[in-house]
Amino acid sequence: MPNQIKQKAIEEITQANDLKKLEEIYRTYIGRKGKLTEVLRSLKDLSEKERKEKGKIANQIKQEISQMIKDKEQKILSKKDVNDNREWIDITAPGIKIPQGHLHPITLVQRQVEDIFQSMGFSVLDGPEVETEYYNFDTLNVPKDHPARDMWDTFWLKDLNLLLRTHTSPMQARYMEKNNPPLRIIIPGRCFRYEATDSTHDVQFNQFEGLMVGENISVSNLKAIIEEFFKQFFNSSDIKVRLRPSYFPFVEPGFEVDIKRKDGDWLEIMGAGMVHPNVFKAAGYVKEWQGFAFGMGMDRLAMIKYQIDDIRLFYKMI
Ligand code: FA5
Repeated sequence: MPNQIKQKAIEEITQANDLKKLEEIYRTYIGRKGKLTEVLRSLKDLSEKERKEKGKIANQIKQEISQMIKDKEQKILSKKDVNDNREWIDITAPGIKIPQGHLHPITLVQRQVEDIFQSMGFSVLDGPEVETEYYNFDTLNVPKDHPARDMWDTFWLKDLNLLLRTHTSPMQARYMEKNNPPLRIIIPGRCFRYEATDSTHDVQFNQFEGLMVGENISVSNLKAIIEEFFKQFFNSSDIKVRLRPSYFPFVEPGFEVDIKRKDGDWLEIMGAGMVHPNVFKAAGYVKEWQGFAFGMGMDRLAMIKYQIDDIRLFYKMI
């Protein structure tokens, strides 16, 4: 009889898969009114010999069953732990961001410059970094013997009779030779100057040239376009623009353009002016056109925008 009880209990314990069921089994077999407890209680009516024999077996079975219940309880609890942990995983949480690099500040500035000027009807062009003397100087009203050639310290590729462009202005004649007004273009790109470096000057830097030619284009158009650009670029209407008279052989009149942010100082950011008639002539224009041109330093824009205080950091591994 106790052996039959044992079989039944084993079966039930094996099938049980929660603590409630296990408790029920405990009560059925080992509890105060449990089947084995009953068997043990009924032993008192047997002879001493039988009582000893059956008592031993029944007690052994009782111990085995309670051990099995305990083991199963552990098993269920440890499984429950795993399930509880699973519940902690929030499947709607955003994934862990994989660390990535980012675009170079100059690239970010260049992209924004292009977007803003494109929205004002300008086309974006590319020009050669290795230039001829003709486009870098001659077409820009800087003849060979002109002292203004000294304004730009040039990296010469003497054997090839070429140079590294000192500014983006050579693209003015290159473009106008092939295209008639009205025209609006910008040319972003790298420039090179053989000069001592400091926190705002490097031997390699980035400019973008702007050129707008048509009929009745005046300094007012230049100022309006530049002001609109700065407003959008700095996303603020607190930008003041100032034109100071200056000299570049390829413009007349010529200006240095300064900008001032809310509480900042005036900062020189570009050269500009009305395109000199000799530049139109060099490009092959016969009719009299008016237009403005400017050359803006992109590195300086990036320095202001991202508060970088030394231009040399743009190309330096730290
Ligand atoms: C020029 O290069 C003229 N081509 C600009 C121009 C174009 C005037 C069209 C009129 C009409 P400038 O040398 O001042 O000008 O340079 C223009 C801008 O380029 C400067 O204001 C500055 O922002 C940047 N720049 C010049 N030299 C360096 C340098 N070594 N390092 C970093 N930025 C520089």
